[in-house]
Order: sequence, then C-alpha cells, then structure tokens
Amino acid sequence: TETPDLDDAVTPHVPRRRTSKLAIVGAGAVGSTMAYAALMRGAARTVALYDINKAKVQAEALDLGHGIQFMPMAQVVGSDDIAVCADADIVMFTAGAKQKPGQTRLDLAEATISLVRKVLPAVVEVAPDATYVMVTNPVDVVTYAALRISGLPPSRLFGSGTVLDSSRLRYLIARETGVAVQNVHAYVAGEHGDSELPLWSSASIGAVPLLEWNGLGGRGGALTSEVRERIAREVVDSAYQIIEGKGATNYAVALAGSRIIEAVLNDESRILPVSSLLDDYYGISDVCLSVPAVVGAKGVEDRLAVPMSADELAGLRRSAEAVKDVARQFGF
Ligand code: 2OP
Repeated sequence: TETPDLDDAVTPHVPRRRTSKLAIVGAGAVGSTMAYAALMRGAARTVALYDINKAKVQAEALDLGHGIQFMPMAQVVGSDDIAVCADADIVMFTAGAKQKPGQTRLDLAEATISLVRKVLPAVVEVAPDATYVMVTNPVDVVTYAALRISGLPPSRLFGSGTVLDSSRLRYLIARETGVAVQNVHAYVAGEHGDSELPLWSSASIGAVPLLEWNGLGGRGGALTSEVRERIAREVVDSAYQIIEGKGATNYAVALAGSRIIEAVLNDESRILPVSSLLDDYYGISDVCLSVPAVVGAKGVEDRLAVPMSADELAGLRRSAEAVKDVARQFGF
C-alpha cells in the first residue's frame, strides 16, 4: 500500500502536479503589486515572494493569500529565505533602491548593481532553470550587469525594458485620437529612461499608419511633429510625475510585468519591447536595450527588424551610447 503524502495533508492547497511557479524578488511597491497583478490574471499557480524584510514579505503574502478566494486558483508564499524561490519557472527581480523625487533611473545604478551581485547568484542556485526578468532600475544597465554576474544565456535573462513606456505611449496616442488603446500599435525603443524614443514611423492606429492619421470626425487631427514631440516628452516624464505625486510607480509596471510573465509561462511568442543583449541590431552590439522582441518559453527568442527612419536609428544609437556610458562607469 502507498503511504499517504503527509505534505499534502498539512498543506492541502499545494498543487500535487508540477505547475507554473513565479518568484518575485523584492516585496516593495513594485514586487507586491506585480504579485497581485499576476494573481488576478491567473498568470501562475504558485507565486513566491522573497524579501530580506521578513515582517513585510510575510504580511504581503498573507494579505495576497487572503484574497485568493476571489481570484483564479493559486497559492502565495512569502519568506526572507531565498529557498522560497526554489524551482521557479520565472523570476522577476524587483528589489532595489527607490527612486527619490528628482533622481533619474541612472542615479540608482550603484546601489542596485551591488544588490544584484549579492542576491542574484543565490537565486540562480535554487532556480537554475528559470527565465530571469530584471525590473529594477536602471533596468538596461542592471540587465547587462546581471548577465555578466550570473553567466546566464542572454535569451534567458532580460529586462522589462520599455514594455511600460510603450503602454504609456499608446495611452497618450489613444487619448489624443479618441481611439481605444488596444487599437494603437506603437513601441518605445531604447533605454527605459531619458534617452528612449517612440518608433513613430512604424506605428499604426487600426490599419492606418500613424504618420498618415488625419483624425476622426470631430475627434482630433493629424499627429503633427509638435503633437508627437509633446507625447514623447510626456512618456519620458510620466514616471517623474507619478513619483512626485505618490513616491513610486506600481500599477502599470506590475501589469506590464504580468504581461511578460504570461508570455513566458504560456509560451506566447508575444512581441514585447523588452531589454535584451543586442548583437548587431542595426549595427548596435554589446548593450541591453529595448527593441520589439519575440518573447516565449525560451525567453527572448528573436528581435524584429523594425523599419526605422534615419532619425529613429540615430536616436536608438544615441540611447545605446547613453546606456553603455553608465555601464562602463560601473566596470561593465
Ligand atoms: C517607471 O517608469 C520608475 O521605471 C519606473 O515607472
């Protein structure tokens, strides 16, 4: 006769079959909200939160766990022991210093990189087969450093990049044109930060190229270069504006993170502008930067050769240099 599985008896909610596991490193505003978003969307069966602050991580896990009755089936665990991340399928790295009002993302590099040095190898040890997504800022530099520190293949470690900025861009275009945000296709490329740029020449609204958009009866007009510049500035300023008002951004970044998690765990081949190590992308190499990429179970599986105007290409190259400059300052 088979001995009953005692583990199942004491924790009956633990799935008996191997199911998807999401681990989130850092239970701050971004990490906790990302757990919430992923749970609400049913992105993973097990969500594990890790943080050095034991009281905080346990409280977040408990609060999330109490809501599971109202969400797709899942279980939540939280601990200050890195073993909580064991055998994760995907790890979202959100731990790091908080951006204070007036600070840029690049100002955070030193503190974050030393944290990655300390924490990432330990996570990789317990979750060697996971896909790793760096979220902490400055995300492009941090992703590059994390690749060097961990030795993981670039397809399996990448950054959340400009998935969030692209959704901000779409939001603003939707507001300007009066069209649903879901019908706007536009990407922000480059650094997740001040040197980023919208790829206007490949953007479209419905089936209409954005640069040929002429407005709808009574709802706005063409997206002139003045309008486009205003929107681009607003995308860059978005985070500063939110940090000024509430100290951190959390909701949209959490949803963007969940989008990435689902693309990987469901093997979706989604086109997402994540930050990955470029190797001769229009001549740009040896830097982690966002360009529209194909994301699935194997991580970043491909990058799209997006048609770009000469200005866009020059902007992308400038952005690559800005990120490389910072990486170099930190010895990468
Ligand atoms: C954001 O863009 C601060 O990187 C964070 O919301």
